[in-house]
Amino acid sequence: MYFGCDYYPEHWPEERWEKDARMMKEAGFNVVRMAEFAWAKLEPKEGQFDFNWLDKAIEILAQYNIKTVLGTPTATPPAWLATKHPVILRVNKWGIRTSFGGRRAYCPNSRIYRTYSEKIVSKMAEHYKDNENVIGWQIDNEFGGDREKGLCYCEQCAAQFRQWLKGKYETLDKLNQEWGTVFWSQTYTEWEQIPLPRGLETAHNPSLLLDYRRFISDSYISYQKLQIDILRRICPHKFITHNFMGLFNAIDYYKLAEPLDFVAWDNYPNLRFTGENKSSVKVSLSHDVMRGLKEKNFWVMEEQSGPSGWQCVDPSPHPGEIRLWTYQAIAHGAEGILYFRWRTSRFGTEQFWHGILDPSGTSRRRYEEIKKIGQELKRLGDKLMGLEFPREVAMLTSYDEQWAFEIQPNNPKFNYQEHFASYYQLLHAWNVPVDVISIQGDLSKYKLLIAPALFLINNELVHNLKEFVKKGGILIVTFRSGIKNWNNVVFDQPLPAKLNDLLGIEVVEYNSLSSMQKGKLELIYPEIEPLKGECDTWCDIIKCREAEIVGRYTESYYKNEACITINRFGQGSAIYIGTNPSPEIKKCLLRWAIEKSGVKPSFQADPEDIEVVLRRKEGKDYLFFLNHSEKSHQVKLDQSCVELLERREYSKDSIMAIEPKGVRIIYRI
Ligand code: GAL
Repeated sequence: MYFGCDYYPEHWPEERWEKDARMMKEAGFNVVRMAEFAWAKLEPKEGQFDFNWLDKAIEILAQYNIKTVLGTPTATPPAWLATKHPVILRVNKWGIRTSFGGRRAYCPNSRIYRTYSEKIVSKMAEHYKDNENVIGWQIDNEFGGDREKGLCYCEQCAAQFRQWLKGKYETLDKLNQEWGTVFWSQTYTEWEQIPLPRGLETAHNPSLLLDYRRFISDSYISYQKLQIDILRRICPHKFITHNFMGLFNAIDYYKLAEPLDFVAWDNYPNLRFTGENKSSVKVSLSHDVMRGLKEKNFWVMEEQSGPSGWQCVDPSPHPGEIRLWTYQAIAHGAEGILYFRWRTSRFGTEQFWHGILDPSGTSRRRYEEIKKIGQELKRLGDKLMGLEFPREVAMLTSYDEQWAFEIQPNNPKFNYQEHFASYYQLLHAWNVPVDVISIQGDLSKYKLLIAPALFLINNELVHNLKEFVKKGGILIVTFRSGIKNWNNVVFDQPLPAKLNDLLGIEVVEYNSLSSMQKGKLELIYPEIEPLKGECDTWCDIIKCREAEIVGRYTESYYKNEACITINRFGQGSAIYIGTNPSPEIKKCLLRWAIEKSGVKPSFQADPEDIEVVLRRKEGKDYLFFLNHSEKSHQVKLDQSCVELLERREYSKDSIMAIEPKGVRIIYRI
């Protein structure tokens, strides 16, 4: 297992480096990531390269058996480059060029920037290709991060966008037809007339907007490829990864992950003022999304190790929390953990983004906690590596769907990611192991599939879903599915178009609810306990073709009309949830679907705040128990087992106590 931190030796006097390496060794570290923002140190003047300082740092760390992952430094172009070629800087949607001074300010399509990037990456690759202490590369840093989702509206992007469109549609006639440019007199007669979706008082054509998002995503993917090609050619034996950002969705992460050896991501569970304060469930979801990108284990390249903050300081991780987050990551598939950052910087934008050590460099509580984890991981050795994920349930997603909903949320209250998470959360609460995979993933290994809001539909997706259900699977699809084709144009067929026969229904009308409005419904299907409840956001009014009614409205002009249905299709069943039911109703529906599909939770009967994650190795089940609460909990064990952290055996039916923020890892015997 790789265990270490993100290290910026260039921020500290050289005399300190040895002490840092020793302290890292004592904490059990065997890896650091360095240099991902150090372009100005590596190429202080155009064409003048200086690797001495980095060589020295790598060497000192190596003396303590600590390996290095090098970041290519392209997230922060140096001042000399931005001054000489301001055109490398991104232009925002109001036409204003970003100024030098932050980071990630470059345009991924800038030819000049690409040329300079090639130069620095090649130089680094040549310099380190035979250095055995450098084990791998991280390309750039967090593509698309730092405001505006990495979008650029410069002239070069405009020209490239038109090329991209030519590649996709071939003729202008085709583009005009697919986009429906007859609307508002937008028919294009020359490619050069097609605008980037710059600032506008009204809204742009949704098909143009979606293609633009795809284009920008592809731009970063091709910019990454440029670097990967160099590194693969010069250093074929070193791994290549990138640090992704969990639920961040500006780039098609499935495509971005494809050419990499594995995915790494940056996990900050507790950003109260600086970002979203994630629940432990969202963190689990993020890990599962990251694992699903390549359906493979991953690294956490930046794991929170202190209070974060740029302008204000976020709350500190409580004692035990860093350890809990670490094991949560391992439970979900992390095989490398690096804490961000070794020592809190004295200067720069991230002065308040704390690392393991404070600016004073002394070891304190957070260092001691990490050291303890280091000792545990050393003892556990490779036991936690290569554990499989026995999963019977998958949730399906795609970035195209997410972008289409960002362009048109349909209802101000609707948020695709929240909607998705509301189903994930229930599975999580019942310890039902779940994979989150692409709509193009292999569906055959699952018994139950949940496909929330498939707004855009294509033939391949329809075919795969049908095959899955035909062969006996249970599928859940939710409202606003089958509305549009892949070019973001509404179908001219009854909704949910192309899914009508699979779902056995027709949506004859819908009602988009105001934020205060609630609908009322009841479950009336014989296999489910009758239950009355509420719904919000959206109400589809459904006519059943072959499907049976599971739930119906009890109020409004659509009283008694169907809102939830089930359709037998081949050997399986397809369930449609045409509204956003309250949690109680959702719970009831999901429990029913889980039982119906024969899916088993990994562990029954445990207290609510305990997350249980199932893994398997050589036929043995491993269970991670993660107590996210401030309270102690007791768990009754359903089989005799060995606990790996406390190193003790438990007999069947005995009670295992878990302290607040505590972790236990058992394997059943
Ligand atoms: C990450 C980034 C790091 C650091 C950290 C704290 O998003 O990769 O370089 O900036 O956040 O802001």
